[in-house]
Amino acid sequence: MKFSRFDFPEGFVFGAATAAYQIEGSSFGGCGPCHWDTFSATPGNVVKAEGGGIACDHYHRWPEDLDLLRAGNFDAYRFSTNWARVMPDGVNVNPEGLDFYDRLVDGMLERGLKPSHTLYHWDLPSALADRGGWANRDTAQHFADYAGVVAGRLGDRVMNISTINEPWCVAWLSHFLGAHAPGLRDIRAAARAMHHILLAHGLGMQRMRADGVSAPLGIVLNFDHAAPASASAEDGAAAAVQDAIFNRWFIEAITRQSYPAEALEGLEPYLPQGWQADMAVIGQKLDWLGVNYYTRHIHQAAPGTPWPATREVAGPLDKTQMGWEIYPDGLHGFLTRLARDYVGDLPVFVTENGMANADTVDGGAITDEARIRFIEAHLGAMKQAIADGVNLKGFFYWSLLDNYEWAEGYAKTFGIVHVDYQTLQRVPKASYLALKRALARND
Ligand code: FCB
Repeated sequence: MKFSRFDFPEGFVFGAATAAYQIEGSSFGGCGPCHWDTFSATPGNVVKAEGGGIACDHYHRWPEDLDLLRAGNFDAYRFSTNWARVMPDGVNVNPEGLDFYDRLVDGMLERGLKPSHTLYHWDLPSALADRGGWANRDTAQHFADYAGVVAGRLGDRVMNISTINEPWCVAWLSHFLGAHAPGLRDIRAAARAMHHILLAHGLGMQRMRADGVSAPLGIVLNFDHAAPASASAEDGAAAAVQDAIFNRWFIEAITRQSYPAEALEGLEPYLPQGWQADMAVIGQKLDWLGVNYYTRHIHQAAPGTPWPATREVAGPLDKTQMGWEIYPDGLHGFLTRLARDYVGDLPVFVTENGMANADTVDGGAITDEARIRFIEAHLGAMKQAIADGVNLKGFFYWSLLDNYEWAEGYAKTFGIVHVDYQTLQRVPKASYLALKRALARND
């Protein structure tokens, strides 16, 4: 590994990230059903129709997983709480679920790991999904109740809290593109979800502030560099509308209390009546911002098709196992753009960055040189952003473990630790060992 922790400012936090539904196993501990259980059970939605019933069995193996973080010299761990585990029907508390997270946080602290807590990483309780999920305004209010309960229990011990992981995925990918639960391709539901997920964030922030939660509060947004397919004005406009939907909608709502015109053009007719009155709630002051970054996409005008009238074209760069182009400049670009245009010197964490790789097992060792190169390239982009004045406080690799990669099932592997799904044995990969060396303290 080209970098060590000493190439970064003192106090820079190095961590790894996971999410509850992707690793825990939703069939244990009184966890209720969530919309991913049913979405994955419907043929055609998920590779091999696999769900998260067992996943990595982290629910039982968490001490071993936290030991791996500790032994890997990580400073922090980004985890999420499963709403359906804490509130199986979306409303009433399952004490067993809350106790599990209590032990998990204590387990991190005992190992000297700083907990970074995400409240919603996509495990919407089925009872709420059945009532319209994120297309229903009431879900935002239920989320605030859930945030109050969980932050009330854990908020005194975690390094920070984010409300929502990747609202673009929750809303657009899941209600317009149909790729994630609930699998809708419906512009009206999409517009509502685009707004209600932000309302949930705002109401959750208000609730936690009112309750006196001491941890810094923020949100995790994902960013995807939108490049035009050509120098034509039409392709430039195609990239601009995708940039507005993906990269501007959420951050502008939060920091400016407005939505970008390029996105409103298509979505305003479908937003809930009186949406403007919610913008002040959505625009709660953040204590920090989480940035997830993986890749770029190239957009072309698609005249004659419905709004947003764009299509994606393949790019020339090297690709990961997901087929995503490797484009570290995009990370530098977003970090500097966010500081310049939106958040100034607000503390920023890269809360996810990583690659799926077709790892090879070689005599028990897992060689994933490509992943090591990927991490180096993106650490380089982060280091440059810091040199350019961005108040970047830390980086979490996605992911600690190979895990349930949503619509891809278990086929795509992002972990620095391999999971054998027959035995559930964990085997650190070469990338884990490289990071362990890079993160060692010389004391
Ligand atoms: C992000 C998700 C995360 C994981 C990575 C690969 O969009 O937040 O759960 O699936 O992509």
